[in-house]
Amino acid sequence: MAITISFLNFKGGVGKTTSTVNLAKALHMMKRKVLVVDADAQGNSSRMMGFRMEKDKVNTLYDVLAGTADIKETILMENDLDDSFDYVPATTSLYNSEQELVSRTGREMLLKRALDEVNSFYDYILIDCPPNNGLVTVNTMYASDYLIIPINCEVFALDGMGVITAKYEEVKKLLNPRLEILGYVLSRYDRRLSLHKEALRQMEKTFPDKVFQTRIRTNIQLAESPARRMNIFDYAPESNGAEDYKKLAKELIKKIEK
Ligand SMILES: Nc1ncnc2c1ncn2[C@@H]1O[C@H](COP(=O)(O)OP(=O)(O)O)[C@@H](O)[C@H]1O
Ligand SMILES: [Mg+2]
Repeated sequence: MAITISFLNFKGGVGKTTSTVNLAKALHMMKRKVLVVDADAQGNSSRMMGFRMEKDKVNTLYDVLAGTADIKETILMENDLDDSFDYVPATTSLYNSEQELVSRTGREMLLKRALDEVNSFYDYILIDCPPNNGLVTVNTMYASDYLIIPINCEVFALDGMGVITAKYEEVKKLLNPRLEILGYVLSRYDRRLSLHKEALRQMEKTFPDKVFQTRIRTNIQLAESPARRMNIFDYAPESNGAEDYKKLAKELIKKIEK
């Protein structure tokens, strides 16, 4: 059975998409079977995995949640080689789900119900969350075993933590008792900056044992790779970004598969 992990932070630009796609590739290179679910209507992770809206007239996560497509019919391969990980794409249509889900019975459970159908094919299902705490996000939290919270170390980076913790506790209590926070990842860390060192110190104090040892260093290739629709391992395999995400994957495996 797959372990399902959501990359969650209600802010944008903190490294959710970068972490989801690059960890997916790293885990895949470590021979794990991986499915990425793009749950953000911006579709950034879909684009990074090569999805092109114009020619890919296919079903997306919207259709799965609407109940008009089977999840198995939405799964795409990240590349054409036999050796690929899989993903479920999203487009702007997913914005409609927020409204449409409201009146549905079991509205928090629809993603989990769909993923249950494919769960046995994978070792890991990684979900790239939208930057808000709407119903799609609640669906991702209900479907997950773990949350990973990416943090960038800019000013106010830690401000949103209380809202995330509150939502996590609410979902755990009311909907999904097995949900755990696996850890917080510093997704763009520069140890030369006192601001970043201070953010790390505060995080470790506030969430002891929950901050990943691996920090993703600020890395120009990580910033460039999305425009080339590539993960860091295909775009710049020798970069610090590739090194860091491989290390993070190892740390994640050690935590989960111990
Ligand atoms: N370690 C890093 N170094 C440099 N740029 C990064 C790094 N991590 C992410 N980025 C860039 O920061 C931006 C926001 O990251 P992204 O993963 O899209 O955040 P989110 O999904 O939370 O909105 C993207 O342009 C991404 O390429
Ligand atoms: Mg994103």
